Amino acid sequence: MLTRSLDALASPYLRGLIPYSPGKPIEEVERELGIRESVKLASNENPLGPSPLALQALREALPNVHRYPDGSGYRLSGALASHWDVSPDMVILGNGSNELLELAGRCFLQPGDEAVYARQAFVVYDMVVQVTGASKVTVPLRDFTHDLDAMRAAVSSRTKLVFVGNPNNPTGTAVSVRALEAFLESVPSDVLVILDEAYYEFLPPELTPDALRCVRAGRLVLVLRTFSKIYGLAGLRIGYGIGPAPLIALLNRAREPFNTSSLAQAAATAALRDEQHVASTRAITEAGRKSLSEQCRALGLSVVPSVANFVLVDVGRPGPATADELLRHGVIVRPMAGYGFPTHLRISIGTPPENGRCIAALKAVLSK
Ligand SMILES: Cc1ncc(COP(=O)(O)O)c(C=O)c1O
Repeated sequence: MLTRSLDALASPYLRGLIPYSPGKPIEEVERELGIRESVKLASNENPLGPSPLALQALREALPNVHRYPDGSGYRLSGALASHWDVSPDMVILGNGSNELLELAGRCFLQPGDEAVYARQAFVVYDMVVQVTGASKVTVPLRDFTHDLDAMRAAVSSRTKLVFVGNPNNPTGTAVSVRALEAFLESVPSDVLVILDEAYYEFLPPELTPDALRCVRAGRLVLVLRTFSKIYGLAGLRIGYGIGPAPLIALLNRAREPFNTSSLAQAAATAALRDEQHVASTRAITEAGRKSLSEQCRALGLSVVPSVANFVLVDVGRPGPATADELLRHGVIVRPMAGYGFPTHLRISIGTPPENGRCIAALKAVLSK
């Protein structure tokens, strides 16, 4: 029998923490609503599925799952290091890039410190800061895009971390290369900038920054990337960070020894060299984003111009209720009220038939 309430026993910083809501499993939603063949456009996954090379590597790795994985991720870190022209001690692997966001929070933040990030950015930044008891300094977006000048101005002598998601989730926007580089140069050298590039591979060339140049020059920047999006391995949970070697060594001190699985490491190593899969994913995403955006606009909806594999659409009526209605048509999208966009939906780009289902459902729901 507890003599204190569980809440009193827990860290006070957990109070007010709202758990991330990933939504119900698709099979459960279908069962409850009596629908079949629904399309999931809610988590910015790869509609083409995993890379075939990754699937082959998984089959080959399966017989060895009784062994612990290589805790250092030697092969994958080495492959990433040569892919990005950095040394292996500048690479850290994570159970999704999400784990690396958390690890950074744990390693750097404590009560009294400040972390700066955009008010409408990936919700995990907020959770990471909240559990440490550090102060949240949030900066509104400008034109649905990170306002780097305002973020720079929000950095104080108490700031330890700055999070920049580029492209940003949930808006799908990216900052200009020049603005980002100027920002990275201008942040004090003892503040860690976490540049979250989960959707990096979808960026058009003119908006693709070379933040690794800053990292190679020794600046305190941690670039985060993931195998969950363009590489289609979200279910395996594998991401990585690239930063100056001393920063990576520090993060490794607090990292769980076997944080990434042998299957994830094998699949990611193979996916990294599957250029064809990456190119097809990019192509289907670009075409799908263009057509989905145009068709939404033809329905009179405003769409935030996106460079990622999702679009933020203003449906002009309460987003959560609209998402519920779309669900009844078998289309799963993400309402964005929790991000301060009460009438917006975030729609991931699917295959052409999936996008078509989404538009048909939107038409049906909006005409009611
Ligand atoms: C901006 C951003 N960062 C990080 C992540 C985390 O991705 P993962 O943990 O699957 O690598 C996501 C996932 O949706 C994201 O949108």
